[in-house]
Amino acid sequence: MTAQLNNEKKAAAMAAVKLIQDGQVVGLGTGTTAEFVIHEIALRGLRISGVPTSVRTARLAVTLGIPLADINSVEEIDITIDGADEFTPQLHLLKGGGGAFLREKIVAEKTRREVIIADSSKLVEQLGAFRLPIETIPFARGFVQRQLEKLGAACILREGFVTDEGNQVLDADFGLIADPAALAQELDHITGLVAHGLFIDLAAEVIMGKGEDVVHFTRPGY
Ligand code: A5P
Repeated sequence: MTAQLNNEKKAAAMAAVKLIQDGQVVGLGTGTTAEFVIHEIALRGLRISGVPTSVRTARLAVTLGIPLADINSVEEIDITIDGADEFTPQLHLLKGGGGAFLREKIVAEKTRREVIIADSSKLVEQLGAFRLPIETIPFARGFVQRQLEKLGAACILREGFVTDEGNQVLDADFGLIADPAALAQELDHITGLVAHGLFIDLAAEVIMGKGEDVVHFTRPGY
């Protein structure tokens, strides 16, 4: 990763942390961009309860002294700040490069204000240049892969990787995805497929670092 993209990630993260208020329940994302947020929350001494989206994020938060809440004891998460692998101007997201997309999606669905932070390389006209991560229970892997192939995907098993839930990940190449909402619906119906990395209508806004600036995108109608 270039230093420029790293600076853009950090700038987006700094802008997003300003949206957090003391006393809030805050979803803590996973990945290199989200980690800037976690460090900044600790640095500022913000008094929040964090809901981590992965074991990796939970460990970092605990190390930095950020109190965590059990997601099952939380009615609603006020704000979540998370990264993405790709996003479109319509704020459809492709996530899961770090393999935490199942928990990230559950946290996003419980969140009032889902804020995505990204460097400028993540903005695309159409999702799909980045392979779509698919989480499958191990027992169903062959079946799920065949269903994905029927939908036109070429799949690679993420070798040596197990999710926080003990599942496997297939990285699926669908080519550029013309209708992500329609594909998401098809994937939602495959038995044994636990989660996919398409996040449709979940992001309220995206904050993207761009050179020295920060650019805000808001979901139409939000
Ligand atoms: C984690 O599972 C992903 O969804 C991340 O949010 C995504 O991969 C972005 O990661 P980086 O911030 O490291 O680019």
